[in-house]
Amino acid sequence: MKRFFKKLVGANNAEEKSDITATNVPHHVAVIMDGNGRWAQQRGLPRVAGHHAGMKNVKKITVAANDIGVKVLTLYAFSTENWKRPRDEVDFLMKLPQEFFPLEIEELIEKNVQIRMTGWKEDIPPHTLRVVEEAIAKTQHNDGLILNFAFNYGSRREMLEAMRQLFQEMNEGKLTPKELSEEHVSKHLLTSDLPDPDLLIRTSGELRLSNFMLWQLAYSEFWFTQKYWPDFTEEIFYESIREYQRRVRRYGGLK
Ligand code: FPP
Repeated sequence: MKRFFKKLVGANNAEEKSDITATNVPHHVAVIMDGNGRWAQQRGLPRVAGHHAGMKNVKKITVAANDIGVKVLTLYAFSTENWKRPRDEVDFLMKLPQEFFPLEIEELIEKNVQIRMTGWKEDIPPHTLRVVEEAIAKTQHNDGLILNFAFNYGSRREMLEAMRQLFQEMNEGKLTPKELSEEHVSKHLLTSDLPDPDLLIRTSGELRLSNFMLWQLAYSEFWFTQKYWPDFTEEIFYESIREYQRRVRRYGGLK
């Protein structure tokens, strides 16, 4: 079989990128950015210092993903379960977008990045929602990498709501149980306009999904690292991409 080894050589990170195969870059990469709290505790800092350092890492990894041709980068930034954390920590996390977007939006626009959010808006404080919606509006016509924040997101609620909508359609006679297909379910999820992730990365050594995209990750490749999210570098990101490119995806069939 013919193999392609088109080299990606840019001005930055040329060495790290040089052995990434341009024809087999994951279209959608999803990241569970874990380990912020432990990163901070290790340094004798409050947990929120870890979230702040984690926020600082977002643009770097977005640019790294964009540089190799990733089309969608979804970052799990706040789960529906994270509301259970102490009030101060939740408040801090809800303030991060107010710091992140004014700081980074110009460069993201320059890079043609489109901002999106997957999650429920209703519980998010107005000051947070406003900056997120502004960033979405400002970048809506960009057609480069989609930087999708999973924010106030939880997969079980997402599936439950999809089921409710589908049952409603059945009650109204618009759909029969027999007609119900995987496509119907996908179209009723919050991610209906995004492809399923090809690669899932979780940092910090935890090996679980934490209610993240349970339906969408059915055939994704999983990659784990011990590194805490604030220490996750471009080079580690490219390592995950190289590993992805060595995998053979069979989707339950044979090669
Ligand atoms: C999990 O680490 C991380 C989070 C709950 C928050 C992640 C958010 C960011 C990295 C910032 C996102 C940026 C924007 C602009 C929204 P943890 O606190 O569970 O870490 P631990 O397991 O070590 O305690």
